[in-house]
Amino acid sequence: MKRILQFVVLGTVLGVIMSALFLLVPWFPKDGSTQSNRDRTLFIAITYVSFVILMVVVVAIAYSLWKFRQRGPSDLRDGDPTHGNTLLEVVWTAIPLLIVGIFGVWGAVTLDHNEAHAANSRVITVVAYSFNFEYRYDSDGGFTRNDGLYVPVGSTIVLHMITPLFTPGTTNTEVIHGFWVPEWGIKQDATPGVTGKTVGTTYVTPTRVGTYEVQCTELCGQGHGEMHFKNIHVLSKAAFATWLAGAKADAAKAKAQAKSNPGLSVFNTAGCSGCHTFTPAKAAGKVGPSLDDVTADYTAAKAAGKTKATDLAGFIKESIIDPNAYIAKGFAPGIMPKSFGTSLSSKQIDDLSAYLAKGGSGK
Ligand code: CUA
Repeated sequence: MKRILQFVVLGTVLGVIMSALFLLVPWFPKDGSTQSNRDRTLFIAITYVSFVILMVVVVAIAYSLWKFRQRGPSDLRDGDPTHGNTLLEVVWTAIPLLIVGIFGVWGAVTLDHNEAHAANSRVITVVAYSFNFEYRYDSDGGFTRNDGLYVPVGSTIVLHMITPLFTPGTTNTEVIHGFWVPEWGIKQDATPGVTGKTVGTTYVTPTRVGTYEVQCTELCGQGHGEMHFKNIHVLSKAAFATWLAGAKADAAKAKAQAKSNPGLSVFNTAGCSGCHTFTPAKAAGKVGPSLDDVTADYTAAKAAGKTKATDLAGFIKESIIDPNAYIAKGFAPGIMPKSFGTSLSSKQIDDLSAYLAKGGSGK
């Protein structure tokens, strides 16, 4: 019994020292939200408890290895048989139960605080697909941005996650993506087929103005490695109001544009810019081939006998509906989702193909 107490004391001292050393290393970015600040305290407490348990076990093992080692080849002694130790068993059940119980309650309370928000908190839907994030401002008229997330500092935002390209029972096989902003300490998956009231939701109350990176945390396909964007903008309240007014004006303009240049409108709403570069639309994606060079790709496809199209617009249409028919030089098959042929209407595909074939001019 005395020995066990010695293990516990020595293990605790070593565990505390190791925790302190471990926490000296700046593993984490500086807190950028109320939520990450709350998680941090819990994380530090778990670190201390984990290292103490680890070191108590290590000390007991190290002592046993030394004390009960084989002393020479003829030493074949075995330990005394034991029928258990009731006190020890009660203690090693009660202590873990207490630890798990405390962290369970603490975790639940932290989660509850992290999810607290006013009834009029701004709701933004994160639209995740292969391979980009878009943001729909549900509380501000429902316009969508694909150039990043803009939020004001100091107020809680409700973030819903959806994967819109997925339609059960069709070939629209969108996969799971994860929305993670390290400085905010939050991470939430966008899961295909999970919509409506059960949609994945997370909450953030940004505390620091600045620009942060969002990283997709689910291995979602060949564009996964590129699915990180330094376009999460936390603005001061005044700057956000200015941005919001401009964004609403842009949305109104885009609506008018949908009439005058429907192809550009499809380009913007279907998320093409996440993966493709196309200068006339100010798109700079790098996952797929640059659409500035689409004429050269058409020529190459024709030369290789890989297209049935008779003109450039037809080639683009074919590439949207059946992306693997011809793969541009330097790219691998299967990167472009095959879902656009069904998720876009045939008029949308025609508008988009005509728009790209004409190098970005209107009708
Ligand atoms: Cu999307 Cu990984």
